[in-house]
Amino acid sequence: LPLSRMLSLWDIEDVARKVLSYKALAYYASAADEETTDRENCRAFSRFFFHPRVMRPVSQCDPSTTILGFKSSIPVFVSGAALARLGHPLGEANITRGAGRAGIIQMVSSNASLSYAQIAEARVGPQQPLFFQLYKHQDDRIAEERVREIISLGYKAIFLTVDAIVAGNRERDIRAPFELEEQEREADKAADSTDKSKGSPDMPAKQEKEESGNVNLLGTAGALIANDDLDMTWERTIPWLRSITKLPIVVKGVQCVEDAVLAAEAGVDGILISNHGGRQLEYALPSIEVLYRIRKQRPDVFDKLEVYIDGGVRRGTDVLKALCLGAKAVGMGRPFLYAQSAYGEEGVVKAVDILEREIVRAMRLMGVSNVKQLVPQMVERVDWQPI
Ligand code: FNR
Repeated sequence: LPLSRMLSLWDIEDVARKVLSYKALAYYASAADEETTDRENCRAFSRFFFHPRVMRPVSQCDPSTTILGFKSSIPVFVSGAALARLGHPLGEANITRGAGRAGIIQMVSSNASLSYAQIAEARVGPQQPLFFQLYKHQDDRIAEERVREIISLGYKAIFLTVDAIVAGNRERDIRAPFELEEQEREADKAADSTDKSKGSPDMPAKQEKEESGNVNLLGTAGALIANDDLDMTWERTIPWLRSITKLPIVVKGVQCVEDAVLAAEAGVDGILISNHGGRQLEYALPSIEVLYRIRKQRPDVFDKLEVYIDGGVRRGTDVLKALCLGAKAVGMGRPFLYAQSAYGEEGVVKAVDILEREIVRAMRLMGVSNVKQLVPQMVERVDWQPI
């Protein structure tokens, strides 16, 4: 289907579900256990309704904002998600270029399938900001090396992921064998047409089998997060990170009011309310519900740091609900993976274009002409779930 036929992010996801390999889809789409939190991340938005205002001038409507001081054409950023090359050979670079052209910011995963340098090189220009998502290695020195590398490459902020110290139980993914290495080997073989031998030259067939069997038991996520630091604390880890970088620090994976308060006390620059797209703790509360509780119980938090959410955001109205409740911006993971899998760089540009149209249309219908006018009084949580 041509890109011009794509009306919503769901349309793009439908195409991606058809073109992705079974195994790539299992990795991208899967979530923990019965995948309840993942589903509810989305559904929870439908409990929030607007109080739109009328008779306000909206011919000039500006959906742009800043995130940690960096300009963003819409209040949306790319949440870091691993292994973009499972879906498309150019992988993360599609997202970098698409985000750069569309004027939004990409957070690059610690487990990206291109090197951090290759991703930095894919930027549309040296001014394009990139954020970095950090999985902290249990060995401080190894973690520090990674931080130094991304600083030297010009990354502009660090999102420290704290909700994935062990991998969630993603059974769809665990069942599907891990295939990135296989794909890469096949691609290498195809590129080198003179090599007619089976299996990679430096690795005997038997060993290859055992290694992929190993990964299989862990699941993709388990294999990727195996060295994460299980003993991170506010008291130790934030000052440690602060001592090695001046970059803004955002804690990714805050899931309750108490931790939002502790983050503010720890002096970080932002929190990303996230349950990892439902991929970690099954029955973690949907992100928009956590945001709602922080707004109600501790509105002071929003004065101390920037608050973002991700998980289940698929529509412009979802974005505006989060902004009304005090979020500075929202992140999206799967929608950008799907967009680049189905249509490469152009798909990413199109996804942002769809979102921008949805956001501007809804802003006008709500009677607001810039994101600062989105306030808590404009959204109401109902205690019933629409059908
Ligand atoms: C993720 N996410 C993630 N988060 C992170 O901090 N580091 C990572 O490497 C990854 N990898 C990853 C892979 C895939 C396939 C997905 C779907 C997600 C979580 C991601 O940053 C984000 O929190 C969620 O994707 C948000 O939910 P939605 O937008 O996918 O519903």
